Amino acid sequence: MSVRLRLNGSERTIDPRPGESLLQALRNQCGIISTKNGCEPQGQCGCCLALIDGSPKVTCAIPAEKAAGREVLTLEGIDQDERDLYSRAFVSAAGMQCGFCIPGILLRAKHLVDGNPNPSRQDIAKAIDVNLCRCTGYVKIIDAVELMAKAKRGEPIPDPENDGRVGQSLRRVSGEAMALGSRPYVDDLTRPRLLHGAVTLSPHARARVNRIDTSQAEALPGVVAVATAKDVPGNRWYGLIYNDWPGFVAEGEETRSVGDVLAAVAAEDELTARRAAEMVEVDYQILTPVLDPEEALREGAPTVNPNKPDNILSRSVIRRGDADTALAKSAHMVSGTWKTQRIEHLYLEPEAALAEPLPDGRLYLATQGQGIFDDRRQVAAFLGVSPDRVFVELIPNGGAFGGKEDMSIQAQTALLAQLTGRPVKLTLSREESIRLHPKRHPITIHLTVGCDGEGRLTAVKARMIGDSGAYASVGGKVLERAAGHACGPYRVPHVDVESMAVYTHNPPCGAMRGFGANQAAFAIEGAVDLLAKKVGIDAWEMRWRNAVQVGDVFSTGQVLEKSVGIKKTLDAVKDIYYDAVRRGKAVGIACGIKNSGIGNGAKEWGKARLVVEEDGTVSLYNGYTEMGQGLLTVLVQFAVEATGLPASVFRPKVDATYALDCGQTTGSRATLFGGRAVMSAGDKLRADLEQGKGLADLVGKVYAADCLTEDTTPLGTTADKIKTHTTFSYATQLCILDENGRLEHFVAAHDVGRAVNPDLCAGQIEGSIHMGLGYALTEELPCVDGMPVTFNLRDLGVLRARDMPEVEVILVEEHEPEGPCGAKGVGEIGLVPTAGAVAGALESFDGIRRYTLPMKDSPAARAISVGKIRTKIPRETWR
Ligand code: FES
Ligand code: FES
Repeated sequence: MSVRLRLNGSERTIDPRPGESLLQALRNQCGIISTKNGCEPQGQCGCCLALIDGSPKVTCAIPAEKAAGREVLTLEGIDQDERDLYSRAFVSAAGMQCGFCIPGILLRAKHLVDGNPNPSRQDIAKAIDVNLCRCTGYVKIIDAVELMAKAKRGEPIPDPENDGRVGQSLRRVSGEAMALGSRPYVDDLTRPRLLHGAVTLSPHARARVNRIDTSQAEALPGVVAVATAKDVPGNRWYGLIYNDWPGFVAEGEETRSVGDVLAAVAAEDELTARRAAEMVEVDYQILTPVLDPEEALREGAPTVNPNKPDNILSRSVIRRGDADTALAKSAHMVSGTWKTQRIEHLYLEPEAALAEPLPDGRLYLATQGQGIFDDRRQVAAFLGVSPDRVFVELIPNGGAFGGKEDMSIQAQTALLAQLTGRPVKLTLSREESIRLHPKRHPITIHLTVGCDGEGRLTAVKARMIGDSGAYASVGGKVLERAAGHACGPYRVPHVDVESMAVYTHNPPCGAMRGFGANQAAFAIEGAVDLLAKKVGIDAWEMRWRNAVQVGDVFSTGQVLEKSVGIKKTLDAVKDIYYDAVRRGKAVGIACGIKNSGIGNGAKEWGKARLVVEEDGTVSLYNGYTEMGQGLLTVLVQFAVEATGLPASVFRPKVDATYALDCGQTTGSRATLFGGRAVMSAGDKLRADLEQGKGLADLVGKVYAADCLTEDTTPLGTTADKIKTHTTFSYATQLCILDENGRLEHFVAAHDVGRAVNPDLCAGQIEGSIHMGLGYALTEELPCVDGMPVTFNLRDLGVLRARDMPEVEVILVEEHEPEGPCGAKGVGEIGLVPTAGAVAGALESFDGIRRYTLPMKDSPAARAISVGKIRTKIPRETWR
């Protein structure tokens, strides 16, 4: 039955289908894209917000038919002047990163300032508390809403002189459109004759698949194709390092994870596709899964993945000096076992892909992946075609944090397009997203650390075991990085570290911001605190005595030759630390180090093309991914710096027009290597401009730069010169609690080499701290029989606006000679020390040293509104 409503000031009729939400009706029937789907049907992220009869409501939780007679207002419907004002306020305050959450927050903020023209920061935090942001830490969002309110009161929005060169806070590329929700994400794309995809996932972490029956699904009206393993013309197995992950599990094989795909459906609409996917019948023989890495190593344990019959995905070893003897001779020694947990990335945009057969026989693929050329390579192999038959384009994504490095549903979507000859879009639900993509590794770390009578570290001995789940992903590299960062940013003469990544039937674990360094930091920072007590010095002084300087040796044996800013970051927080101690505050301090660049012997590329276009613009192509970190904006700044042209000239693009395969956007390297390439291409363009030519004379010219870095050495090398990484970023953080043990104030001093864009740089750090505080206190993803016990966003423990303490970021610039204009990566270091700082503050509050994350048994965690895991998925409903 049709339903009439008033949408954005006009009468509108929609035809709700059974089970259709207002969100789906707005997006699919009314062409509204400012309302995003982050968690339907949970109603917990706020991305789908609309004003209904003047009140903010989440449209995913409202059945479409209930909209009858209602007045619905979305961002598309507000007055253009207001749209301009509000979006400029968000961009001016750098109040967004990936932008996926922002339309919902902006609309809620409009509702707030309409009723309260002068809201306090607390009022704003309270109003947006129902909206989730995974990127920003809310600090700059609250700044933006304050600015919105001021603008609405008639005050001008500051627009400082800014020519976009390196060191200035150039406004984010496409920022206004992102704030208003009009810059599309993959799920916002549409095509004529578009089909919608859906997948059938295994409910069993380990089961033999006897038979897959698609006949009922195929018979459902509206279904155009159902694909299974039998339909894959190429290599059904893919992966970033090992091809150990099947795009479909075939009859006769075992499932390894509850995210395994059995079938994929293409249908005329999404509801039909999802219904058909549920109608695929699979006959399983349920088997006992291996869920504990120690169990997986036992003699006789079943093989999880044929890639490694003994279940050992990787083993990394670092030995320097004689740790046992040094420990025996040490004046003080501490030993302990630190345990970290599995967590979910929870980027707010679930995975989506769109594939479309092109008239020239190629396939177009819109992806949100972190390495679009890796996506192309794997999709082409899956389809059994050469990579040049797939034209891939990045649609800047709604957050990734490492979780979009691996393939999710790109290959299945491409196959459905190939089978049907029609464009197909497939978007995962929140639950499917959580089941399918890799997580942060739970790692158990047995650590022994010694020091002399004055607190100088003598030796570190560590044994680490990480649960890598069902597929390799980059799990071996994560454990390798954990081993490499086992000593933190400290001078340690004797090192004995071994780490192991182990396959289990749990959800796969792979890259997540920090990539093993966070887990290692939690352990070493705890040990350093314990030793400081034994020595009788404070935690700041202990770190000062041990922090590396130029000429010192990193854990891996690399001599640190340049840009070592850890002591500057310690200096930057010194007064705040001692002032807090003097005031009797519970304060914790921790330091961090994080590689910038993958290193360890990898060949790393920065590739760029500057193409002068007829319309007077310059297209800026690069091979790395924009995922909210602001890469495209800082690359424009490098282009401005190199060429002297204004920022408005450059149009950043990421697609397969040129062969710019740089691998994954990972290891805090896109600014480092991508920036180098853009500077190099820009130098060539500037040389032509200096000959007196204008852009009009250069139309069609392509300025190319492919910059290779291949001077790093593998872990354990016997080479004369060890250089495991191009460079490192450094940080010192302070956590200060209030008189009740709750988070009050957080200080983060970071050596970033050069702050290319100070606002975006600080935003990265604020967002990392938000993620790190969740990691420390509330976030976890426990599983039973390999299935997450909850998919509920509040249960998962990501902090809300009112849970955040005040955050103070101090940018320290220690020039990196190998970086473009002295810059190095900042994307990951922000949460490396965070859990350690919180653990120190908690011990200073209640005397309890905590060894296990998340530290839910603490007053700080108890005061936080999320992370209580109230919802448990009953086993009989798993499907
Ligand atoms: S609240 Fe509706 S999509 Fe998350
Ligand atoms: S900017 Fe808020 S989720 Fe990315």
